[in-house]
Amino acid sequence: MPAPTPKPEPLIRKCVVPAAGLGTRFLPATKAVPKEMLPIVDTPTLQYIVQEAVSAGITDVILISGRGKESMVDHFDLAVELEAVLKARGKEEEFRKLRAISDMANIASLRQKEPLGLGHAVLCARGLVGNEPFGVILGDDIIDAEEPGIRQLARVFRKHDQGVVALMEVPPSETHLYGIAAGTDLGDGVIQIDRIVEKPKPGTAPSNLAVIGRYVLPPEIFDILEQQPPGVGGEIQLTDGLATLQKKRGLLGYKFKGQRYDAGDKVGYLKANIAYALKRPELRGPLLEWMGEIVRMEKP
Ligand code: G1P
Repeated sequence: MPAPTPKPEPLIRKCVVPAAGLGTRFLPATKAVPKEMLPIVDTPTLQYIVQEAVSAGITDVILISGRGKESMVDHFDLAVELEAVLKARGKEEEFRKLRAISDMANIASLRQKEPLGLGHAVLCARGLVGNEPFGVILGDDIIDAEEPGIRQLARVFRKHDQGVVALMEVPPSETHLYGIAAGTDLGDGVIQIDRIVEKPKPGTAPSNLAVIGRYVLPPEIFDILEQQPPGVGGEIQLTDGLATLQKKRGLLGYKFKGQRYDAGDKVGYLKANIAYALKRPELRGPLLEWMGEIVRMEKP
């Protein structure tokens, strides 16, 4: 019998998912339910994020959580009672779907005790990440792509051996909402960053290339964040740490391929719901029919 082909080395093994925020933009839904557990169609946003990580070969997901957000970890645990009920009722498919969630990845969670910023949230994961490159995925940004967004970045990281951030062009009127990067185009969507700033004031952005919530970083970022003074909004900003990383070791941007939804914004969240529902054959027909009716009614 031929020896089994060894699995290819994963590009990165671990990723950090900052999820400590209060989700105030989605109150009252987020009074007792973490923002990350709000569904897109029937699946919590966080599950899309973990799925993206897993399909990029990541085995360990480190959730940076906050008080009252335990349901995020419960979602990836075995649901023994629920599974028993589904089995007893002969609901095999539902049972399998539920079990698959708890088999997805090793989920670790730790608390960010104070809201000191995204850079601080990432720093909290230092002990669990250790001395290896890792991914960061922000749950507000949903990327629908053939090749998972974080995997696209991990490939660029491996090729060039430099930290990589996901970039997307935004209108000049929106640059103040993002980390903005500028640099030299190396071809194939890769940019050698020479400037990166967090939420520049309107009219001062060095480009219209916005950082979208995907990063693959070398472990050196932890030493940098350790020393990082607070920046915009009095918070320890990941972008400021990246600016130091850029000067010390170089930093790349990658114009990822795929559709991004800003699930942290109500319109973006609704768009994500509609887009993902339209991909479901059983929902597409009735939804399109209803949308057609609305458009006809709205027309003057
Ligand atoms: C964070 C980052 C910002 C980035 C954005 C992407 O900002 O600080 O650099 O461009 O995510 O969604 P936030 O949206 O949390 O204010």
